[in-house]
Amino acid sequence: MKILVTGGTGYIGSHTVVELQNKGFEVIIVDNLSNSSIEVLDNIARITGKKPLFEKFDLTDPGKTEDFFQLHNDISAVVHFAAFKAVGESVHFPLMYYRNNLVSLINILQEMINNGIRDVVFSSSCTVYGQPEKLPAREETPIQKANSPYGNTKQISEEIITETSENENIRAILLRYFNPIGAHESAMIGELPLGIPNNLMPYITQTAIGKRDFLRVWGNDYRTPDGTAIRDYIHVVDLAKAHVVAVERMIANKGKKKIETFNLGTGKGASVMEVIQSFERSTGIQLNYKILDRRPGDVEKVWADTSFANQELGWKAEKSLDEMTYSAWKWEKALAAKAEHEKKQGN
Ligand code: NAD
Ligand code: WQD
Repeated sequence: MKILVTGGTGYIGSHTVVELQNKGFEVIIVDNLSNSSIEVLDNIARITGKKPLFEKFDLTDPGKTEDFFQLHNDISAVVHFAAFKAVGESVHFPLMYYRNNLVSLINILQEMINNGIRDVVFSSSCTVYGQPEKLPAREETPIQKANSPYGNTKQISEEIITETSENENIRAILLRYFNPIGAHESAMIGELPLGIPNNLMPYITQTAIGKRDFLRVWGNDYRTPDGTAIRDYIHVVDLAKAHVVAVERMIANKGKKKIETFNLGTGKGASVMEVIQSFERSTGIQLNYKILDRRPGDVEKVWADTSFANQELGWKAEKSLDEMTYSAWKWEKALAAKAEHEKKQGN
């Protein structure tokens, strides 16, 4: 069965392509490489023994999207990752975010309808919950007004999909990711942050490798046991596996509703200090860090109730925080080795 993975050369997409191929699915990726590299295809091939099919174009282009679906008329389901995801950037360039994230989704849904493709798995985010009043966050936890255009694109996307499914032959699984970190154990694929990372994990590994002087811990005066903010970090490979289960569920007609929503996390919160301690424990490296004021817009604490995903999908995150931080470090070292190699070749 052929699965279209949009954004499949990106961070979560590439790990999902690996898991889909490992399960025997044929994968075709569409990506415009705006935030990923073509080399990912060879690295997926090195891991799985198979290079996925690939088409490079921008999914906001309706004509190109239409042509693609006409050419590839044997697609069974879509996993839609393609989107911009930098929260801060979205505040500065809201239209860029609304256009990219919403128009690409609209084009995909339109072509699914035109070509009789029913099933889509969509990348949503725990950001839709904001700071929940009650923890852990359940799928029924009220959605709060988004505090960035990026977050708003996820809320609007969920609505677009849900409303479209009411009148069309479209079904969806909306996956609300908590904080994905880590990399494939082979260290052949991982996250490629452009410029200075905003997210905690790449900032830690870049500090440890010497690219940054120290980690800035944003606030230690939260109402948490050690004062630093709490998130539900999930290994990207566990997250990728949930997509395979979601695709299988849809194809096997096992869904109970046209739109199903699942939290994807571990169900356990970890503070910034606990992530630092895990990194130090798993790698044996002491990290330079300084405590600074809170980062504006950050929530204090959030973690997932994953019982619905555990029961309904039969999926559970398995990897520990130490495995996450260690794999992220292995990936950072692989990136540094590659950069060193390229520098030598250039000389
Ligand atoms: P990523 O940037 O690594 O991957 C996204 C991919 O989509 C990139 O390869 C990019 O080139 C491609 N892309 C973007 N716009 C496109 C377009 N118009 N046409 C074709 N390709 C396009 O991001 P990721 O971390 O892998 O995230 C994947 C999805 O998961 C996104 O929708 C993101 O919003 C969502 N998500 C991510 C996180 C996270 O922390 N990483 C958390 C929650 C949700
Ligand atoms: C985690 C914790 C920071 C960097 C973002 C998006 C969210 C979702 C996931 C897509 C926080 C602290 C961080 C640093 C720090 N993405 N931190 N120093 O903010 O939970 O969520 O990514 O949907 O929408 O907002 O993730 O990794 O940025 O931060 O102390 O240099 O680490 O304050 O407590 P966040 P993050």
